[in-house]
Amino acid sequence: MFFVSCYYDNEEALYPVLNNLCDTTNVTYSGTIFPILNNSCLGCHSVSATGGSILLSTYAEVVGSAPRITGSIKQLPGFFAMPKNGGKLKSCSITQWDIWVRNGMQNN
Ligand code: HEC
Repeated sequence: MFFVSCYYDNEEALYPVLNNLCDTTNVTYSGTIFPILNNSCLGCHSVSATGGSILLSTYAEVVGSAPRITGSIKQLPGFFAMPKNGGKLKSCSITQWDIWVRNGMQNN
């Protein structure tokens, strides 16, 4: 009983540390951006009927919608907040998106 409670406390203490690990140096389309979109967006945005006609499956589609994506994932006024009905992306993912855009949206 005591051990379980101690272990739980330790895990809680570790959680914010794990949460703060954000890779901001190796941000690529294939290794970073596509996995984020695949996890949180493509369920709706690979079929136009469910994603409000915005498709995000391919590199070209993502580049074409990049300014709208930025507004939507930051949930800025004037944009539909995304992921729809799904809260907000982790701040690390939003930071990585910004880095990818700032680096010229490379197809890497
Ligand atoms: C549950 C389905 C669903 C998910 C998940 C989802 N979207 Fe959407 N998205 C929509 C629909 C539907 C619209 C059309 C606007 C509306 O009805 O809200 C839309 C609109 C958009 C738009 C246009 C917004 C604008 O203001 O012009 C962008 C960009 C977008 N989504 C990006 C994303 C991104 C990026 C993700 C993942 C982080 C995502 N969406 C996740 C369904 C979804």
